[in-house]
Amino acid sequence: MSDTWNDVDRYISELLVPFDAALDAALLKSAEAGLPAINVAPNQGKMLELLARAVRAKTILEIGTLGGYSTIWLARALPADGRLISLELDLNYAEIARSNIERAAIEATVEVRVGKAVDSLRELVDANAGPFDLVFLDADKASYPEYFTLSLALSRPGTVIIADNVVRDGAVLDAKTKDENLKGIRRFMEIVSREPRVDATAIQTVGSKGYDGFALLYVR
Ligand code: SAH
Ligand code: DHB
Ligand code: MG
Repeated sequence: MSDTWNDVDRYISELLVPFDAALDAALLKSAEAGLPAINVAPNQGKMLELLARAVRAKTILEIGTLGGYSTIWLARALPADGRLISLELDLNYAEIARSNIERAAIEATVEVRVGKAVDSLRELVDANAGPFDLVFLDADKASYPEYFTLSLALSRPGTVIIADNVVRDGAVLDAKTKDENLKGIRRFMEIVSREPRVDATAIQTVGSKGYDGFALLYVR
């Protein structure tokens, strides 16, 4: 990763991302517990918060909690009667996330559900738990196609879906890849391109988390 990318990310964050003790602590406690540092960067987290505020989200669905860092950013955008459901496979990660969420004083609006996200999503569909105003897709990339389909079932016209990690150092171009995660991302992009119910784009990003990108989808 380029030093410049890192330096510019720091420059942006120092200028525009205010200090937040709970967000800092979430990263520290996650690192102490041995969680991988694959959370969104601070300036990306704030972008998620601003997007959620821009659409006046009252209900948010997150797929892939890790230590709850992006969860806290997204929940900061919610009104007092808002609700965020975050799905996580790993019980230990979920426990760390819950304690980080409590420290951020957002536990009244946030629920972390443990299990395979496809199962949790099917349960949400069966329980008629939608529609969500915003969906953040960030769990295992191999399952992005299924996550997309299930997210659509939990959407309404106007729902915004953001998918992280759709570029992966440019590896997304490799049509012959054997990597299940990359295959998932490529399949996701293809399904999105043919889905008449969404308008979509994707943006490449560089920064402290390397070279990657996110997709932004709008449900028509
Ligand atoms: N959104 C977080 C980062 C998520 S990392 C942030 O930016 O702060 C991806 C997470 O997805 C990991 O915690 C991983 O355990 C989880 N995950 C992987 N496979 C999953 C599955 N099948 N169901 C639910 N979560 C899964
Ligand atoms: C990685 C990064 C992510 O943002 C993510 O959600 C999963 C994995 C990674 O760099 O491996
Ligand atoms: Mg990610």
